[in-house]
Amino acid sequence: MFVHVLGAAAGGGFPQWNCNCRNCRGVRDGSIRAQRRTQSSIAVSGDGENWVLFNASPDILTQIAEFPALQPARSERDSAIRAVLLMDSQIDHTTGLLMLREGCPHEVWCSDMVHEDLSTGFPLFRMLEHWNGGLKHNPIPLDGSDFSIPGISGLQFRAIPVEGKAPPYSPHRHDPHKGDNIGVLVTDSHSGKRLFYAPGLGNLTEATRELMEQSDCLLVDGTFWQEDEMASVGLGEKKAADMGHLPQSGETGMIEVLRPMNYPRKVLIHINNTNPILDEDSEQRRILDREGIEVAFDGMDIRL
Ligand code: MLT
Ligand code: MN
Ligand code: ZN
Repeated sequence: MFVHVLGAAAGGGFPQWNCNCRNCRGVRDGSIRAQRRTQSSIAVSGDGENWVLFNASPDILTQIAEFPALQPARSERDSAIRAVLLMDSQIDHTTGLLMLREGCPHEVWCSDMVHEDLSTGFPLFRMLEHWNGGLKHNPIPLDGSDFSIPGISGLQFRAIPVEGKAPPYSPHRHDPHKGDNIGVLVTDSHSGKRLFYAPGLGNLTEATRELMEQSDCLLVDGTFWQEDEMASVGLGEKKAADMGHLPQSGETGMIEVLRPMNYPRKVLIHINNTNPILDEDSEQRRILDREGIEVAFDGMDIRL
C-alpha cells in the first residue's frame, strides 16, 4: 500500500492567511524551525497508479501539482484519482470537490449523514450535478463490513463511526449522529498490512481502540496539544472537545491513548496552526519524539 500525505494541517492550513499566532508568524518570518502545511488530505493506492483521495482539501490543486502521480497525463484530460472518500462534511475536507469540477463525474464515498450535509447545508452534490454528472454517491457501510472501491485494486476498506462533530453549518452540529465522522481501516490484501486513518477523533470507543490495535500504522487526530489551546493563545474560547478533537496532552490525551499500543507506527495528522508541535524545537515536539510519535508533513510517504 502506498500512502502519500497531501496535506497535514487542520482547517486554515499552516500558516493560516489571517493568523499571527506564534507559529504562523514564526513560519512566515523564519523565527521558528517549522514546515508549512496545506489542509487535511491523504492519497492511498494499492498499485501506485490508481489513487483514492481521503478528503478533498481546499488546497487540492496545489497538492496535485506537488504530487505528479495524481496527474499521469496519458491523454488530453487525465487523472489518477479514481474516487474520493470523505471522513466528514467539514469545509476543510470537502471544498476541494469544487476545484475538481472539470473532471466530473467523480465517485464519492461517504456516510449518509455526510451525504445529507452535502445535499443541504453545503449542497455540493446538487451544485455539481450541472458539471457532467457531478458526484456519484457511494454509501459507506457503518456496520463494520469491508468494502472495496472499483478501480482501486488490492485494498479493502472498513469504516468505523467515531465521536466527533458535524461542521458548524450542519443542522446537527449539536445533535450528533452516527456517521458524522468516521475513521477508516485500509488493508492491503497482498502485504496484509493495515492503515488506520482518523483525522478527527473526539473520543475513543472500545471498538476504535481495537481497530487501532490491529493496525500497522496510525494516522490520527493531531489537531491540538491542549484542550484549551485556542484560549491559551488568545484566539477564542472553543475547546478541543467542542470541535470534536482529542488533544495530545493530559491524562486521557492522545499520548496516553497511544502509549500502550506498542507495535504500530504512530503519526499525528490534521495539525492546527496553533499547535506547538509544529515548532520542531519545542518541548512538546521533544515529548512526542520520546514517545515514538511522528508528526505528518506534506509530501510524507508511507509504504505498508
Ligand atoms: C475541524 O476539524 O475542526 C476543522 O479543521 C475546523 C475548520 O475547518 O474550520
Ligand atoms: Mn478539520
Ligand atoms: Zn496561527
